[in-house]
Amino acid sequence: MSLLTRTAAPVGDIAAMVARRAVGYSLESSFYASQEVFDLDLDAIFSRHWLFCAAEAELPEPGDYVTVDIGPYSVIVVRDDDEQVRAMRNVCRHRGARILQERCGAVGNLVCPYHQWTYRTDGSLIFAESQPPEFDRERFGLKPVHVRTVAGLVFVCLADEPPADFDEVAQVIEPYLAPYRLQDAKVAHQTDLVEEGNWKLVMENNRECHHCDASHPELLTAYFPFHRYSEDDVTPRMRPAFERYQAASAHLDNVCSILKAPRDVSRELDSRPTGYMIMRLPLDGDGASFGQDGAQVCRKLMGEIPEPRFGDLSLHLQPNSWFHLLSDHAVVFSTLPIAPGKTLVRTTWLVHADAVEGVDYDIDTLTAVWRATNDQDRALVQRAQRGVSDPGYEPGPYGLIEDDVEAFINWYIGRLREHLIPHPDHLGLLTQASGQ
Ligand code: FES
Ligand SMILES: [Fe+2]
Repeated sequence: MSLLTRTAAPVGDIAAMVARRAVGYSLESSFYASQEVFDLDLDAIFSRHWLFCAAEAELPEPGDYVTVDIGPYSVIVVRDDDEQVRAMRNVCRHRGARILQERCGAVGNLVCPYHQWTYRTDGSLIFAESQPPEFDRERFGLKPVHVRTVAGLVFVCLADEPPADFDEVAQVIEPYLAPYRLQDAKVAHQTDLVEEGNWKLVMENNRECHHCDASHPELLTAYFPFHRYSEDDVTPRMRPAFERYQAASAHLDNVCSILKAPRDVSRELDSRPTGYMIMRLPLDGDGASFGQDGAQVCRKLMGEIPEPRFGDLSLHLQPNSWFHLLSDHAVVFSTLPIAPGKTLVRTTWLVHADAVEGVDYDIDTLTAVWRATNDQDRALVQRAQRGVSDPGYEPGPYGLIEDDVEAFINWYIGRLREHLIPHPDHLGLLTQASGQ
């Protein structure tokens, strides 16, 4: 039974909310605070789109696994004995017990702790005690979940029929990601941060840097403030920094052309089911990474990158992830909903597999900027959740530099609309709500 069916009573309200959403404005309160919308989000968004859930580097050996919890769903992502990445429901086919409770680990087989039904790492059932002779093990393998790896990033989709455009998006982003060879990287560090806010507030906050000046002093030291500036916008006082920016951009153009790495922005955030944006930004100071004044934070560079000044490759994917790839490390983020006002943000730092902790990098320096930034964002999201839950809140207008927030919300509303409209029971409600 779909979660939508279970919340049948308020669907009319949600459909009306979707229909009256004002373009360019934040959502009304219930989108962020109500259990019914949260349930619908799990059904319409998290059960039907490709979700970034892990780096392949988290599963270096056969039998290595991670579990990923998405609301009430739990998925096992495991490298099988043939080294393929597999995903399956973390639900035993005997009487439904959770098979794996740990966040990550390594197994020979997957053994349910309840009555010891035992599955291979490809999900097939190999042992079930006390079943009758005619018992057909083939019928009771773990339910597979669609899984794709793209340049070392692992995506799952809980739908029977995942969005078909994922391959097109993978083709676009793969050449950008290739030089970093994330599939050969190793995990240097990972944090799980529970934020007291709706998952959409976490994503909205990520999709703009309007708040960065006031909130992210550590992060800002790496970036030029000129993204999307034209020369006419530059005041005389900004001129020296703008000239540094132009030189760093020209250098980045040059390195990209030597490595045959794409340099242009590609942005389809709200015009397809698998919305994305990918771009490279030159960095200030040393121009290498997130260290002090743009310094490297790992001595060994990623993959085959020959040059530390390779900018920041920034990738955004709807609905739940963002990525920063530097010459010397990568930071990858996934957002996983827990409750209407609670969201897990998982952050993973990747370095070259041969980089040695204490020699090539230390964890504190490697992670300093994003640990600080995540914590600052956590406080902002909590503050936003409190405000939008106040009866005095009403949706407010996004600014011009919040266009990727609008694109995220526009994508979200479009996906809900598509989910709700085809259902014959909802058609009347939607047309009624929109006054058509
Ligand atoms: S519920 Fe898993 S073995 Fe019984
Ligand atoms: Fe932020």
